[in-house]
Amino acid sequence: MQQVIIDCDPGIDDALALEYAIKSTELEILAITIVAGNAPVDIGVNNAFKVLERCERLDIPVYRGSEAPLKRSYVSAQDTHGMDGLGESGINRQSQVQPQEVPAEKFLADFFVKKRTVGILALGPLTNIALALQFNPELGRNIQRFVTMGGTYKSHGNCSPVAEYNYWCDPDSAKLVYENLGQLIEMVGLDVTREIVFSPTILEYCRRINPDTHDYLQKITQFYFDFHWEYEHLLGCVINDPLAIAYYIDPEICTGFESYTTVETESLSIGQTLVDRYNFWKKKPNTKILETVNTKAFFTQFLTVLLDAPEAMIASDLNLLQLG
Ligand code: BDR
Ligand code: CA
Repeated sequence: MQQVIIDCDPGIDDALALEYAIKSTELEILAITIVAGNAPVDIGVNNAFKVLERCERLDIPVYRGSEAPLKRSYVSAQDTHGMDGLGESGINRQSQVQPQEVPAEKFLADFFVKKRTVGILALGPLTNIALALQFNPELGRNIQRFVTMGGTYKSHGNCSPVAEYNYWCDPDSAKLVYENLGQLIEMVGLDVTREIVFSPTILEYCRRINPDTHDYLQKITQFYFDFHWEYEHLLGCVINDPLAIAYYIDPEICTGFESYTTVETESLSIGQTLVDRYNFWKKKPNTKILETVNTKAFFTQFLTVLLDAPEAMIASDLNLLQLG
């Protein structure tokens, strides 16, 4: 069992990632820290509690983090995730549990003041991580692993021709983290997450296997389906963040290479990840860039956990349905 802290901005795909991580027997979630991203931070906190309530895990502490990027005005992704951040699903919270009093960035800085066998999975803009790193420059060296969903190497951006949302939203934090973490950054970018399409067929498969979970999945993904249809004529939706969880659990499901990487903070290409694969800058690699993903292995693991079904059955069904 690997111990992790999840920093996120729920967010439809963050909500799926949280549920997957919480229910996985491979991970122990020590805390959830929330950053402004897909939705404003208080909506993100509320959504994290909705997931914890659903999973009956309100014992996991939630920390409220930054309300805005380091240096720029905040731009949410509520056009993609809905005003409630959960696809306008109308899901309400029952419990009154509140976030911890300590701000997320302070919690992270203090927690990693000594070496820990605990990793961070960052699924949103890197503002909380950058602030924590400013408080505690040793943070990177004291974490076990740092996996971030963000950026893109060869695939096009989703906020500009070259930039992915998490780093586009707060490029200054992303740059600060890439240049100062002092620990290999494992970048789960759009090159691999674009392969993870939660399609209408997979949704229908969920209905056959676990109708209750299907109803929830349908509620939160419909808005995301519509967005993808409108912008890309894609049937279904790309679920980026759950891949970071699957990769954390089993790094074998992706392949990649190590390279020096930083993030552009100015001009038209703001938020772009600059991946020096051919070592023009003669700098030590600070990042592992993921390039390929075994989508069948991903969906087998993800659906086994989410649908609470036997892995062998899911694997065989995915083969028959030619999914994944
Ligand atoms: C990333 O941005 C958000 O829309 C998703 O939650 C994901 O973390 C993809 O660009
Ligand atoms: Ca996210």
